[in-house]
Amino acid sequence: MNYNAAFVDELLGNFHASFLKNEHKWCDFARVNPEGDAYRKWVYQKLYTLRYFPAYYLEYCVLAEKLKARLGQYDECLQVASFGCGICPDYYALRDNLGEIEFEYTGYDSCRWSMRKLVPKDNSDNLSFCHLNIGALDSVDLDDVDVFIFPKSIGDIARSGGLERLARLIARTEKKRVFFLNSFISSGRNEKSIDLSCFDGVHEALIKSGFGTEDDRSKTSYEGGAFDVGLVRVSSDFNYPERLMINCEREGSSLLCEGCNVIKRPVMRNRFMEYQLLEYTRP
Ligand SMILES: C[S@@+](CC[C@H](N)C(=O)[O-])C[C@H]1O[C@@H](n2cnc3c(N)ncnc32)[C@H](O)[C@@H]1O
Repeated sequence: MNYNAAFVDELLGNFHASFLKNEHKWCDFARVNPEGDAYRKWVYQKLYTLRYFPAYYLEYCVLAEKLKARLGQYDECLQVASFGCGICPDYYALRDNLGEIEFEYTGYDSCRWSMRKLVPKDNSDNLSFCHLNIGALDSVDLDDVDVFIFPKSIGDIARSGGLERLARLIARTEKKRVFFLNSFISSGRNEKSIDLSCFDGVHEALIKSGFGTEDDRSKTSYEGGAFDVGLVRVSSDFNYPERLMINCEREGSSLLCEGCNVIKRPVMRNRFMEYQLLEYTRP
């Protein structure tokens, strides 16, 4: 698996420098969690990226490597749709791990994630975005898709009411083989994510369309040998430089400081990894 440490370092450097300029607004985000409208705020997009990007990108690298192994020799251009893509760490993980396999990526998200402009650019990047609520997709969008990704998003999408319709659209595909890269928001404890059952509706719709799978959708994995080891045990290239951690000069000066989400450490351990790869085929 290839964890592109130079890319992640540059990305963190860009976001960190930009976030420091917003220091006067930090207290407004002391109690903000990754949910709902929070993603629409630029300052929060930076904070979220600093906290989660390296860990989630690493998890998607693991999934991308597994996908590559399943695909084997693959000569066509893989069509990828990611639902709730955010700043699209999954795209970069595929780019850095699919090797010679060509792919086209479309990221769907109801939020625009304007801070994507701080992600280091590469001339070969091939991605596009569609900013809409998943509940408003129409069937044409998904006809050619080989790989569907739910990157830490299926619970949010289910709760916003868009998942049943999406399941029916996915199941209308004319493909004979489709993959799902599901990554769940983990409870941080050694038990299954409560969002795991959200995929059931997609599974049922596929079965009705004649698909079957040998993968077990009730199983998820974490990586690194044992639950809650450091991410450096998953990839020795994983490294979150101390100089890019958020330190606040006002720490301790207000009631808001207790449990402040701005100075919370970034995710550095595998307890927030929880993923599965499911392959569905039909005759
Ligand atoms: C936890 S974030 C994950 C972001 C990104 N995939 C990652 O790994 O960092 C969930 C994302 O799903 C998006 N989302 C939630 N419900 C949605 C819906 N119904 N339609 C489109 N996007 C949705 C949110 O805007 C947010 O960007």
